[in-house]
Amino acid sequence: MRYSGLAVGLFGGVLALCGSAIPANMPPPADPNAGAKLVSHNGCMGCHGAKFQGGLGPKLFGIEHKLAPGQISDFIKHPRAPMPDFGFTDAQINDVVAYLSNLDGGTSGAPVITLDPSTPKDHAKITVRFTGATPEHVTVRVSMQMGTTSHHSESDLHPTKDAHVRQGDVRFLMGGAWVLTLIYDDKHVDMPLNVAGGM
Ligand code: HEC
Repeated sequence: MRYSGLAVGLFGGVLALCGSAIPANMPPPADPNAGAKLVSHNGCMGCHGAKFQGGLGPKLFGIEHKLAPGQISDFIKHPRAPMPDFGFTDAQINDVVAYLSNLDGGTSGAPVITLDPSTPKDHAKITVRFTGATPEHVTVRVSMQMGTTSHHSESDLHPTKDAHVRQGDVRFLMGGAWVLTLIYDDKHVDMPLNVAGGM
């Protein structure tokens, strides 16, 4: 666990990271609603099952846990018989991939954070369950602002037997109002936290 006592401007740094502009030449974001239309108009369910649970073709529900987006789009672009080639454009395939990847809530759902004990005194065990694909690196930071000083410490969460769950330990220097921040991919998820303190 890394620990640092004085870190003014911590939150400013986080904001600067999140605020980067989207370059003008980026393709438009995939549209899962357009993907849903393409899927229903092209009879994907006829082979993959009414609820995408599988039939003649494999189960597509939860496919984002099994294949990366690029692999899913490659397959739709170059399907193996008996799956037909639908002749979709790249943009249409991106829409279809976005739709299929969200059938079970996808990878964008907020992770569920549990602390044990829920009102910690000086440390707690943290369990984070991801609803979709689980990021490889998850870091947890706890911080507390005191006037112009902020205390913070950071540690990496480790994998568990459950592929969707990451665990670790967090320590608090003193009681008071802390903020727990989960950092993964390019996301920062904040959770306010009351620490009982009293050592
Ligand atoms: C005629 C039946 C049929 C139709 C219609 C069909 N598929 Fe398939 N699909 C299959 C079969 C069979 C496979 C497995 C092929 C293989 O792996 O050899 C497959 C595989 C896939 C895979 C790869 C899944 C994996 O786990 O590897 C994706 C993604 C997919 N289909 C998407 C679609 C989409 C999207 C549509 C509609 C636009 C569609 N399919 C329509 C039969 C079909």
